[in-house]
Amino acid sequence: MAVTLFDTAATLAPLRDQLRAAIDGVLDSERFILGPQVASFEQELAAYCGAAYGVGVANGTDAITIALRAMGVGPGDEVIVPSFTFYASAEAIPPTGASPAFCDIDPHTYCMTAETVRAALTPRTKAVVVVHLFGNVAPVAEIEALGVPVLEESAGGRAGALGRAATFSFYPSKNLGCFGDGGMIVTSDEQVAEQARILRFHGSRDKVDYEQLGYNSRLDELQAAIMRVQLPHLQTWADGRREAGRHYEQAGLGELVGLPGPTAGAEPAWHLYVVSHPEPQRLEAALGAAGIGYKAYYRTPVHRQAPMAEWGAGLELPGTELAAARHLAIPMSPVLSRAQADEVVAAIARGIGKA
Ligand SMILES: Cc1ncc(COP(=O)(O)O)c(C=O)c1O
Repeated sequence: MAVTLFDTAATLAPLRDQLRAAIDGVLDSERFILGPQVASFEQELAAYCGAAYGVGVANGTDAITIALRAMGVGPGDEVIVPSFTFYASAEAIPPTGASPAFCDIDPHTYCMTAETVRAALTPRTKAVVVVHLFGNVAPVAEIEALGVPVLEESAGGRAGALGRAATFSFYPSKNLGCFGDGGMIVTSDEQVAEQARILRFHGSRDKVDYEQLGYNSRLDELQAAIMRVQLPHLQTWADGRREAGRHYEQAGLGELVGLPGPTAGAEPAWHLYVVSHPEPQRLEAALGAAGIGYKAYYRTPVHRQAPMAEWGAGLELPGTELAAARHLAIPMSPVLSRAQADEVVAAIARGIGKA
């Protein structure tokens, strides 16, 4: 049986009628930009996270740039960010005028720690982008205790009210995905929320007077309506992802490869299930032959990507290099069955000659 890396279609199948009705509702309303769907979804996601305000923007990358600027980051500042993450986590920093300062990760959890952040602190550090990678939860309180404001960057789960602000991407493969691009900033800081609202709207409150150089970066009504149908199911889906992780454990995956480690006290919502092996190419060959999805996300870490040379050249980040060389994402979704997990584990066993 073929097992896909994600299974968005099966996850959304029971909601098809509700999704169509929501889309029709927006067409009927003739409100497409910053209308009642966005306003309601902003409140609903903020409440889900335990925060006061949500500000919908065009994508997760803009969310980071706008949130950092709303937190007062600007030219001459440094923002600490991990190198083992999606490129956009760092790409979003230079447009604020600040420089990315790359930190290492714990290759067992794939997340940054207070120690790796401390090693990157300088007198110019203005903020830390704490990435909750793959649905794990990085230690925000310990990092904040170093005395720098935290912007959480979330790829899934209920994180989002731990730091000064948090950003979300609603890229379609995410735990809460829309049918295109979308993003949000969530915060309990009224000033950050107000600044983010102005920045996403050309630096204006009313499109008459302009206070700052801003952006046209808004979440669409259509996408907000689609996600309002999905949000009530997010917790059940996260439980399904955790259950899928247990299927892998019970099928004996941990005897074959390194399993992703939850951070202390966290219940990860496994956006991606990322294992490690010294020779991931052997896993790739066996999974490919069996028609099973897999993906190496970050073989070249961000600090070694060409446009980051100014800030990354010569840096030594051993945890990052280990994770980059060894990681491999295998199928994960809220509906992944034990039979599918068995199939994946059997293919991996064949790949490393332990079948
Ligand atoms: C960790 C991380 N940060 C940032 C982004 C960027 O989000 P977007 O594609 O919505 O701009 C993504 C996802 O694509 C991501 O995985």
